[in-house]
Amino acid sequence: MVLPIYLLGTDELRVETSDVKEDSAELQKLIDDMIETMHAAKGIGLAAPQVGRLERLFVVDVSPMEEDFEESGVPMPDQPMVFINADIVAESEEDSEFEEGCLSIPDVHEVVERPEALRIRYLDREFNQREEEYDGILARVIQHEYDHVDGVLFIDHLTAFKRRLLKRRLQDIREGRADASYPVLAKDLGVIEPEE
Ligand code: NI
Repeated sequence: MVLPIYLLGTDELRVETSDVKEDSAELQKLIDDMIETMHAAKGIGLAAPQVGRLERLFVVDVSPMEEDFEESGVPMPDQPMVFINADIVAESEEDSEFEEGCLSIPDVHEVVERPEALRIRYLDREFNQREEEYDGILARVIQHEYDHVDGVLFIDHLTAFKRRLLKRRLQDIREGRADASYPVLAKDLGVIEPEE
């Protein structure tokens, strides 16, 4: 089931989420719905707060970037990926810059500097404990989604000057004036379906 994506301005996006306590049919359904929602919105990552859920959970699917993996020679892990109760345990000192966007902040794209590589410990959807290292696009998407489960958005990483330039557009989005091609949910307005 495709869920509405919560827009900037909703309280859920600013909450530090809680660990998932146990596996359940309800959790597995939420994971399926989040993957379906991410695909429907043509996103490459989606975190639970973006569908109004306060679990420490996010999904990633970088398969649209398959060519980048082929060029780099690094094999792409099976997609989509599910990260439950993730913990970034190490990050590279080296940073990289990459233009990011967010399904909760439609049509805003800005360059963000983040560590180039990381090591992350997490449970997959079968609740297997994993610890893996990622760099490049996967490290980028994982850090963006990991921020979400801590209540942090990519615009928080921008300079005050950049944020000031974006102020009006961000305010429009907060008030539900977002031009998204997928259903969104705005604070006080509820669900807004995309225009045909
Ligand atoms: Ni995002």
